[in-house]
Amino acid sequence: MTAGSRIAAMGHYQPTRVVTNDDLANTLDTNDAWIRDRVGIAERRIAGNNESVADMAVFAAEKALAASGITAADVDMVVVATCSAEDRCPNVATTVAARLGIKAPATFDLNTACSGFSYALATADHAIQAGASRHALVIGAEKLSDVVDWSDRTTAVLFADGAGAAVVSAVPEGEETQIGPVLWGSAPDKGDALTIAGWRPYIKQTGQVVFRWATTELAPFAAEVCKRAGIEPSELAAFVPHQANTRIIDGIVKRLGLSPDAIVAKDLVESGNTSAASVPLALSKLIERREVPSGAPVLLFGFGGGLTYAGQVIRCP
Ligand code: UT7
Repeated sequence: MTAGSRIAAMGHYQPTRVVTNDDLANTLDTNDAWIRDRVGIAERRIAGNNESVADMAVFAAEKALAASGITAADVDMVVVATCSAEDRCPNVATTVAARLGIKAPATFDLNTACSGFSYALATADHAIQAGASRHALVIGAEKLSDVVDWSDRTTAVLFADGAGAAVVSAVPEGEETQIGPVLWGSAPDKGDALTIAGWRPYIKQTGQVVFRWATTELAPFAAEVCKRAGIEPSELAAFVPHQANTRIIDGIVKRLGLSPDAIVAKDLVESGNTSAASVPLALSKLIERREVPSGAPVLLFGFGGGLTYAGQVIRCP
């Protein structure tokens, strides 16, 4: 048994193709000013036709493994949070494990859309606490460009592709856990506010319903995550929320009462909304740029389709 787990290292991957707001305005009735003002996105990355969710997950996981010092042979669990897997079976996690040469791990995908990384991180943490895993790969990966209707300006300007991965390991005996208790939940009565329905699906969103829910109901949940971790929001070094809209992020930040020195991730400006990949992508970039000191408390908070939410305070690797 172990007291808990920690993120040993992170990695991320984004496709090389950059699509700007002006690019979208060539084919849609939209413009750069509307997208920047109402959403906060300036550009996004879109995968190539032959680039899959599993490809992006593998690239991100390879980077996380290389940075962690842990080898594929040590990994005993692979969890992929995604709502855009091309295939229903095999799951993405199994494909990732095969590509990385991980011999016989527990493998499963988890779909809670945009809150997926926090759900998957909590699930891996719980498995480690229960002794069912020692080193887990926890990945958020999405190819939302596959499920976007490129003629629908209300969604096409929002969503994008990418992946972020964490190596999550048991803390050594006698050391404190570095992943705080999860708070997770949902608002099933609003489930139809964001859908990817059927076999050949498109994302459909009643944006204002999701926006109102996010700006009115989520800040107290984020505060509760901090309480469960025994930390005041003002003590956080960084806040990494789901990257859907800068106005939503600013609203939650205002109500949470973060320190003016706290770093607030706004990766959506350059990456768009990558659903389950958005939190690990943004966190991995903060770590890569060394913007948050190792050991500093960081609040992760995902929310979206379902409507689901989940968060935890982690210690920065
Ligand atoms: O990641 C999953 C969770 N999702 C979210 O958290 C998203 C939450 N929702 C939002 O972020 C916002 O609701 C959106 C960014 C999706 C939309 O912003 P909004 O301020 O709620 O816009 P709206 O839907 O109220 O539309 C305002 C106007 C409408 O025109 P009229 O009816 O006022 O003439 C829309 O037709 O903006 C129009 N519009 C656009 N105009 C230019 C909608 N999309 C566009 C566009 N370009 N792409």
